[in-house]
Amino acid sequence: MRETKLTILANEPISEKVYRLRLRGENLERQRPGQFVNIALEGRFLRRPISVFDQEGDELRLIYKTVGAGTDQLSRTRAGETLNVLTGLGNGYDLSRAGDAPLLLGGGVGVPPLYLLARELRKAGKRVQAVLGFNTAAEVFGEADFRALGCAVTVTTADGSYGQKGFVTDALPEHYSYFYTCGPGPMLRAVYRAAKTDGQFSFEERMGCGFGACMGCSCRVKDPEHPGEVRYKRICREGPVLEKEEILWDD
Ligand SMILES: Cc1cc2nc3c(=O)[nH]c(=O)nc-3n(C[C@H](O)[C@H](O)[C@H](O)COP(=O)(O)OP(=O)(O)OC[C@H]3O[C@@H](n4cnc5c(N)ncnc54)[C@H](O)[C@@H]3O)c2cc1C
Ligand code: FES
Repeated sequence: MRETKLTILANEPISEKVYRLRLRGENLERQRPGQFVNIALEGRFLRRPISVFDQEGDELRLIYKTVGAGTDQLSRTRAGETLNVLTGLGNGYDLSRAGDAPLLLGGGVGVPPLYLLARELRKAGKRVQAVLGFNTAAEVFGEADFRALGCAVTVTTADGSYGQKGFVTDALPEHYSYFYTCGPGPMLRAVYRAAKTDGQFSFEERMGCGFGACMGCSCRVKDPEHPGEVRYKRICREGPVLEKEEILWDD
């Protein structure tokens, strides 16, 4: 983890309530796919966690949706302003389990962390299939970015106004070697039930400190070394990515 000042290069809307934020910092450390940053906003006690969408040298790209006061404030920041950002947070996805044809399943603002993952997997020569799910056409983003990497992309919308009608789980391909997913809770549960292989889930839970100190993001997981027993993981530190085999859903 590093605290750093990043300069805003651009902060522009790309679909309904969704913005692409381009930031530059000196000697920015390499962010791994699935890691996140935590952004301080003036006058707000808690930072706002946002996944890394992409990194090119000293330029960091994020995609975020305005859902409340913090992200709304972020959307009003302008090129040339600086942001205090904690970088390099979280464990990130483990690429070693991908196999030759990994499947990426993203829902809404669960799509951004899958982009850098797709890029790294394509660089490693994998055949990447991506299913990107949204509620409606106006919310769709990222399709062209994933296609430009050479991924096979399916877009689903719940109301059928763009792409295939339905949820990401309605568009699961016949064959894939492993999966990676990020999205809202109900989508992750549906993926858990529908997926035929092992996979990794990224949980964009609510957070406090974001770096392991407050325990505010603890969740119960299965303990692989002691079958039947549970232990706790902090989503911000030992997550946000969890393996399918260790997940315990709270009912
Ligand atoms: C590890 C991680 C990665 C994330 N990556 C992204 C990302 O790449 N892009 C993105 O747009 N968002 C991402 N989020 C969610 C983002 O952090 C929240 O949307 C943001 O903090 C909300 O701040 P706010 O002040 O605007 O909203 P608040 O005023 O705090 O909340 C407004 C509304 O948003 C809901 N909300 C708040 N936090 C979350 C959350 N974490 N998940 C779902 N709903 C929430 C609240 O329940 C409330 O209804 C991520 C969260 C985590 C923990
Ligand atoms: S948010 Fe504080 S420990 Fe995870």
